[in-house]
Formats: sequence, C-alpha cells, structure tokens
Amino acid sequence: MRFVQNGVSEVVVTTDGPGGGNAAPMGLIERDGAFLLRVFEGSTRRNLKRTGEGVLNVTRDPVTIAVASLGEGVELRERPTRLASAEWYAPFEVLDQRDSSVDDELGESELTVFTVEIGEAFEGSGEPVTLSRGACAAISAAVHASRAAVAEERGLDEKAAELRRRLELEASRVERLGGDRAREAVEIIREALR
Ligand SMILES: Cc1cc2nc3c(=O)[nH]c(=O)nc-3n(C[C@H](O)[C@H](O)[C@H](O)COP(=O)(O)O)c2cc1C
Repeated sequence: MRFVQNGVSEVVVTTDGPGGGNAAPMGLIERDGAFLLRVFEGSTRRNLKRTGEGVLNVTRDPVTIAVASLGEGVELRERPTRLASAEWYAPFEVLDQRDSSVDDELGESELTVFTVEIGEAFEGSGEPVTLSRGACAAISAAVHASRAAVAEERGLDEKAAELRRRLELEASRVERLGGDRAREAVEIIREALR
C-alpha cells in the first residue's frame, strides 16, 4: 500500500519559487484513488499556481516536519528541489485546482484544493511509509480505551468517564484525518468497550 487509503498522509511538499526552493509539510489526501492537497495561503500555494508542479517528500522525522512547518531552513537538494533527508520522493503535477475558503475558529481563510498526479518515485526510493495523524489518533484512542477498562474494573467512575471522553476526541480526529484502517481500529475499540 502506498499512502493512507481514504485518508491523510503527512508529507513535505517542495516547490520552486522566484526566491528559491520551498518546503512545507502538507496532508496528502487520498480519496477513491484521487490525490488532493488542500493548501492555504503561502509560498506553496503561490508556487503551485505558478509552476503547476512540485515534489512529494516522505520523511518520518518529527524535527524535519516541525522545522519545515515554521518556515525555517530545512536542507534542500536541487533538480528537482527536494528535501535532502527525504526517505522517498516523487514528482507531482497539478491536474486541477479549485479556490475555496474555510471559516473556522481562526476566521476565514482562503485555500486551494489541488488535484495532483504523482509520478514515478525517484531512483533509490522504496515504498513511501508516511506518518499518519489519523493512525496516531487511533493508537491514542486504544491507549485511552485500555486505561478506561482498568478504571472501570477499579470502580473509578469519574476517571473512566474522562478517559472515554478523551477516546471520543481521538475518534473525531480519526474521522477527519484517518484512513480506512484507522476507522476500523476505532470501531473495534468502541465495540470492545461497550
Ligand atoms: C503535519 C502538518 C501538516 C500540515 N498540513 C497542511 C495542509 O494540508 N495544508 C496547508 O496549507 N498547511 C498545512 N500545514 C501547515 C504548513 O506546513 C505551514 O503553514 C507552512 O508554514 C506553510 O508554508 P508555505 O508558506 O511555505 O506554504 C501542515 C503543517 C504540519 C506540521
């Protein structure tokens, strides 16, 4: 399996801009075989609109992802512009783009949904093994469920209720970010806790 199915894989998108290369973590959404990037205002959105192409980089290093998200310098290589530390990378092309906006707790923000086609991975790349916030949320839900079961056995009703609330918070993250497997995990957890 390449990316999270019917869910979000965390990748780093590298693009070329007038001032040089840019790297930003993005959620790559797979839905029924199509790949989408929902990109808010910033360099990545501008560069993708201008050039119609970029590189998907896979890294499981939290430091690289955190540093890139802050717009700080992560080490890049050129031709194509990519993360020096990428575990896997492949070019992509924009097939379609739709401007949209969201209104949430931060107010209104513009974004563009890019439908992308992913090309052949570059030489030396294996399978892309990505981090998935949905999978992590399912794992956290499982931790809360196992602790809730202990709390219930011990008659700690308030603690059990709190752990079930935390479980449901993680389950809502899985709903938003998870793929098929993470959703299946949450169903199994809920069934076991009934
Ligand atoms: C794990 C992770 C996932 C992210 N996913 C997205 C995303 O899907 N779309 C987006 O616009 N920003 C996303 N961000 C935020 C951008 O990476 C961040 O705003 C970045 O500074 C944008 O940089 P740019 O101006 O170079 O495009 C994500 C950040 C992290 C840490």
